[in-house]
Amino acid sequence: MELYLEKNKSVKEGFFFDCNNTYNTDIDVYDKTSGNIILSFKKNVIEEEYYDFDNWVVSQSKILSMDRGNAAGKVTLAGLKQHKENRKTYPVELLTRAGYYQKEGQSSGAHFRDNTGKISKRSKSNTVKSSTIGGFDKNAGHPCRLTFFTKRNIQKYETVFPISQKISELYFSYFPDNWLYQYESYSKCPEEFIIPYTNFSSITVNHDFRTASHRDKGDYKKGMTCFTVKKCGEFSGGELCFPEYDIGIDIKQGDLLMFNPHEVHCNNALNGHGRMSMVFYLREKMELCK
Ligand SMILES: [Fe+2]
Repeated sequence: MELYLEKNKSVKEGFFFDCNNTYNTDIDVYDKTSGNIILSFKKNVIEEEYYDFDNWVVSQSKILSMDRGNAAGKVTLAGLKQHKENRKTYPVELLTRAGYYQKEGQSSGAHFRDNTGKISKRSKSNTVKSSTIGGFDKNAGHPCRLTFFTKRNIQKYETVFPISQKISELYFSYFPDNWLYQYESYSKCPEEFIIPYTNFSSITVNHDFRTASHRDKGDYKKGMTCFTVKKCGEFSGGELCFPEYDIGIDIKQGDLLMFNPHEVHCNNALNGHGRMSMVFYLREKMELCK
């Protein structure tokens, strides 16, 4: 099925939405005005065996992150503390960069004072289970590299190559033009920082992470992001939602969603546990790595 949908431009980033119209069958969605593709969903195209990668990959999806910005929603004390309930130190007050009191729910990042009086050096977002494996381009004083845990677990990391290669093949078969644009950049990247025989450098893995409205940053602009889910428990909901189009995709293990990550997206409310999402993409500045 093909849908041409009008964009509602009033959707802001950093907020939670539930999209009303959800689909779980093959669908291509385009913007009605520009004709640009927003998403393409393919049901049941990745065989079970591809999800048999090492459990280390699943463990990476449970790493706690306080750097997900808008995707983690507006920052609150409870949001900073979540998943860290048993820790001895915990935030007691949000602060602006200049050290003044900041109200909860105002922005997606804040400094904070903890119960021992210590003030965080960097601005933080709500705590979520999310991390990136594979390559990362130059940022915040760090050189191009394989991410910290990837480098220390190369053999376990390599078990994710078959599903990456399968997804890249599917991406090429559905969107050869986008794939080839992306490949031009991929082929200039240092070999040690990319996933071989694919079109990707990196995989962001999330666990039970209901994202607020956000746009992805740092990925190759002319490409499409490839997305699948591994079932690690019992859950329902959590559909990937495009609030400006009020459409959500109920993606399950075996399914592939290709979408424009620069369109605002989020997740519907998730019930239960064990939804591990995997986002395959190429870091935009990786081709500049020497
Ligand atoms: Fe995203």
